[in-house]
Amino acid sequence: MATAELFADGWRPDSWHDRVAAQQPDWPDAGALDDVLAQLRTFPPLVFAGEARSLQEHLASTQAGNAFLLVAGDCAESFQAFSADSIRDKLRVILQMSVVLMYGSGVPTVKVARIAGQFSKPRSAPTETRDGVTLPSFRGDTINDFAFDARARRPDPARLLRAYNQSAATLNLVRAFTKGGFADLTRVHAWNQEFVASSPEGQRYEELAGEIERALRFMRACGIDLETELQLHEVDVWTAHEALLLGFEEAMTRRDSITDDWYDCSAHLLWLGERTRRLDGAHVEFLAGVHNPIGVKLGPTTTPEEAVGLCERLNPRRIPGRLVLFSRMGADKIADALPPLLRAVHLGGHPVVWACDPMHGNTFQHESGYKTRRFDDIMREVHEFFAACGRADVWPGGLHVELTGENVTECLGGADAVLGADLENKYETMCDPRLNARQSLDLAFETAALLRSTR
Ligand code: PEP
Ligand code: CO
Repeated sequence: MATAELFADGWRPDSWHDRVAAQQPDWPDAGALDDVLAQLRTFPPLVFAGEARSLQEHLASTQAGNAFLLVAGDCAESFQAFSADSIRDKLRVILQMSVVLMYGSGVPTVKVARIAGQFSKPRSAPTETRDGVTLPSFRGDTINDFAFDARARRPDPARLLRAYNQSAATLNLVRAFTKGGFADLTRVHAWNQEFVASSPEGQRYEELAGEIERALRFMRACGIDLETELQLHEVDVWTAHEALLLGFEEAMTRRDSITDDWYDCSAHLLWLGERTRRLDGAHVEFLAGVHNPIGVKLGPTTTPEEAVGLCERLNPRRIPGRLVLFSRMGADKIADALPPLLRAVHLGGHPVVWACDPMHGNTFQHESGYKTRRFDDIMREVHEFFAACGRADVWPGGLHVELTGENVTECLGGADAVLGADLENKYETMCDPRLNARQSLDLAFETAALLRSTR
């Protein structure tokens, strides 16, 4: 059957235009925006349809309980913090977490980075007021500037071109790092950064890396030619972002020459946020028609009918690997909020990957004024997620976290206990607080233990 028939009748990349699109900026100059979108339509795709299909196969395997999904990266990428070092350090942490999870669970980690396009942010308020001055909220570097002045906060479509170019350069480096030797399993020790290596988590990682090296030596002694085993030398890291700015996503959407299906070629996986998942809204309409794997964030107010409605709308043919549902309830709410959704989706016969975003339901403003999260709340939500999945007989398929490879002080706690007074030391995020490299590794070890007991 031609897969073009599998999705909504008469769908076009611009079908979303007659729906309500939440969270779109007020572009002051519509003509300038149209010019930029016209240019973007002529630019090469950032990713290929075949790659998105390959991710979908890995997600189908995840849904069946034979792999674990790790989605990780910045809350918002920035133009300013764009460097080879920051991309490398982020990849290092993702690779470290991935081997820790894999070693614990005995199943492959499907690695998806919030990178090469994760710029645009939904906001709870359209404006921000400081000292009596009210300006448009910062919506991400694709739209306006973080600085609090009227000029900086004016949406500027030229930023979309810069975001496209930065995404292309980032992806180029990610591909080089993952295929060009950096991700080689024989370099497992080298992913431990200096400031992590001396810490208890770093030491624990060193031990695990030592065991992996011994296992590799053992296989070599058995006569296995490790040099020719490509899986040991290269990894796949797929890209993902929230498909928030629909004009941009539409401009990046192309028909695949092999299947004739539409793919949003701005990233491999696109997700709907908690604020952009309305069933009759423009975002759902857009993502219903592209054939990439799709994610949906589900917060504590999600009803079972909504969850099933989203599954019906986004994956009517129940294709395994097409849909990932990210539970982001908050540590105090997940035990009540998640089980009815797990049940309803199961009863609806929908094959979805269930994954846990333990970050977005646990954000609060610290008395110092910084937006933060407690490592303990994050961990508690992960534990509750595994428990709820266990009771529902559903494979706890993945983790979605905000992190950085740097030694930031944005989330409280962890083995090194970042304290309230420490937040100001190295608080660099432009949006939500991220786990630092040590906290990320900590989280991976605890999750690996949960996975081990699940299997
Ligand atoms: C995010 O992932 O950065 C985000 C805004 O999430 P949510 O839509 O779940 O709030
Ligand atoms: Co965020």
